[in-house]
Amino acid sequence: MQIPFHKTHTTNEEIKAVVEVMKSGWLTMGSKTLEFEEKFKEYISSKYVVSLNSATASLHLALKAIGLRNGDEVILPTNTFVATAEVVTYFDAKPILCDIEEDTHNIDVSKIEALITDKTKAIIPVHFAGQPCDMDEIYEIADKYNLKVIEDAAHALPSRYKGKLIGKLEKTDITCFSFYATKTLSTGEGGMATTNSKEYANIMKINRLHGISKDAWDRYTAKGSWYYEVVDNGNKYNTTDINAALGIVQLKKQEILKQKREAIAQKYINAFKKNKNIILPVIKNDRDTSWHIFTIKVENRDEVIEVLKQRGIGCSVHFIPIHKHPYYKDRYNYQDEDYPVSNKVFEKSLSLPIYPDMSDKEVEYVIKNVLDIVG
Ligand SMILES: Cc1ncc(COP(=O)(O)O)c(C=O)c1O
Repeated sequence: MQIPFHKTHTTNEEIKAVVEVMKSGWLTMGSKTLEFEEKFKEYISSKYVVSLNSATASLHLALKAIGLRNGDEVILPTNTFVATAEVVTYFDAKPILCDIEEDTHNIDVSKIEALITDKTKAIIPVHFAGQPCDMDEIYEIADKYNLKVIEDAAHALPSRYKGKLIGKLEKTDITCFSFYATKTLSTGEGGMATTNSKEYANIMKINRLHGISKDAWDRYTAKGSWYYEVVDNGNKYNTTDINAALGIVQLKKQEILKQKREAIAQKYINAFKKNKNIILPVIKNDRDTSWHIFTIKVENRDEVIEVLKQRGIGCSVHFIPIHKHPYYKDRYNYQDEDYPVSNKVFEKSLSLPIYPDMSDKEVEYVIKNVLDIVG
């Protein structure tokens, strides 16, 4: 049996939606993008949304919107994808890495205050695997030190913190979602920023399209005008109507797709909970996870991944901590011993396939082989 780490959920509905755009005569950002933004805004119930071509673009423009400058510092967990740190470097600002909690793999809030200096401008909590971070404690620190909060919600659609969807938390400045190929809503590549600030939304909208003061398609419609002004040094970060058409279809199914992942997670939990060689993910009581990723910890991680691969099962590791990557280590002189929990978690972690279209047989095959190898 061959079970890839991820397979995108694509039905005829997605295919039809894309074909419709292809026949429409307009492929890039236009009416479908607007429709996707409206529907996303309604779903999350945030005041403003800005669609982008990735979460990386979203995080970049979020930092621009809050006014990050050369020499500033931004606190983020070391256990994240490189994008979270990379965007900070775009400003010649410094990513300040924080260690994580051993059970949730999220930023360890008790270690944040010690990292704050007079240069600290923002905190970027990353909702690892979809489980929301300790947001109330993060807001308390942000209030005390006058810091901005930008959520990296690349994994967290749909996830809830104390009953509220991630993307809607009022005290957050900007939340950034990813629609990358493996994500819970996938448009191939894509991202979305949500915010309750009109000012932030405007800055991001202008900067997603070269700093032009209005959206491109206005210029080409019969009632639009050819005239535009460049008011900022922007980027080319817009999404396309093709991606948006996929997004509209997938957004409708988010709760159902999540239930399917949840059912798989529950099967893994039931099968592994009695095995003392496997450490399962821990979800705190006052929040729920999108189950974007299912990470377990085992002693012989590398061997388990290798044997699973030989048996046709694709796994991944989330994440190689930022402080271990040569570029970041050399540029910022991060010391391994400053991140004991992340190091321990990294050595043992592996992520199993979890996607809505996995069949019962496939889930059982994964379970059987994990138990067989782990003992
Ligand atoms: C935690 C996290 N942040 C940001 C990103 C970047 O997302 P994108 O590929 O949409 O730029 C990813 C992508 O995997 C991620 O896992």
